[in-house]
Amino acid sequence: KDQLKGRSCLTLFDYTTEELRYILDLAKEIKQKQKNKEVYHPLKGKVLGMIFEKSSTRTRVSFETGIYQLGGTGLFLSSKDLQLGRGEPISDTAQVLSGYLDGIMIRTFKQSDVEALAHYGSIPVINGLTDDYHPCQVLADLQTIEEVKGQLKGLTLTYIGDGNNMAHSLMVGAAKMGMHFKTAAPEGYLPNEDIVEKAKMIAEENGVTITVTTDPKEAMTGSDIVYTDVWASMGQESEQLKREALFKDYQVNEDLVSHAKDDYLFLHCLPAHRGEEVTTDVIDGKHSVIFQEAENRLHAQKALMVALMAD
Ligand code: CP
Ligand code: NVA
Repeated sequence: KDQLKGRSCLTLFDYTTEELRYILDLAKEIKQKQKNKEVYHPLKGKVLGMIFEKSSTRTRVSFETGIYQLGGTGLFLSSKDLQLGRGEPISDTAQVLSGYLDGIMIRTFKQSDVEALAHYGSIPVINGLTDDYHPCQVLADLQTIEEVKGQLKGLTLTYIGDGNNMAHSLMVGAAKMGMHFKTAAPEGYLPNEDIVEKAKMIAEENGVTITVTTDPKEAMTGSDIVYTDVWASMGQESEQLKREALFKDYQVNEDLVSHAKDDYLFLHCLPAHRGEEVTTDVIDGKHSVIFQEAENRLHAQKALMVALMAD
């Protein structure tokens, strides 16, 4: 418990399997408290700054609601309105904000910016999504899978789509929790090879495998958990048409999911583009747990904030 205090969450590589287990167990406990309407204020008087350089519905609302429910306050800081947006260095911003706040959540483009904020600051920094990682989303995803399937270990998670933030964080989260991970994308859009190599070492230690392929049917075969994400992420809007053509054989539809296990679960970080990366029958069908997953952002992040920020 104490070993997480004061630390940051830049990627899921930061945490051991035991630390992730602790956060997931705490998330379950905190969700139950919320359902029981228990007052729980371990972050009374604490302030979380939330820097956004990209749009958000879930991350913004779940962090702001979460810190409030824990007895603290969240400050929404659009990077457009901060001096950061006018060129103030991250190193100065980090040191200044460390004098006011108890934690920072940041959503931005470059992972190196989040790392710099943590390096120069002296308070926990939480990655609320970069081009490369989305650790908070995966904490909620793991919580959701465990709630529905009753376990994580030994399950196979398949991610179909662009090999960027979601692919990377799901791969690391799966490897750490002893789940097999399979992914498919067109050539040129597969996950970062260095990240795959690092995740493979963890997977091996935990007795599971990571499969990276361009064949969506191969990735889907025998899957317990089917996951996809938009083809053009935030910042890639100008590539939308090009990506629609490139990814058309990677749509998660009834035909593709017929290769998954009969009792597969469908997850999506949202926002989704129905009719593009996933068909309506799949995302709105009986295997889909997208809204339970979205709600768990709140509970998982409350657990993360308590673990990192509570006295
Ligand atoms: N899944 C997710 O992070 O959603 P938002 O972009 O709405 O925060
Ligand atoms: N891959 C998406 C995830 C959004 C939560 C993006 O980066 O826009």
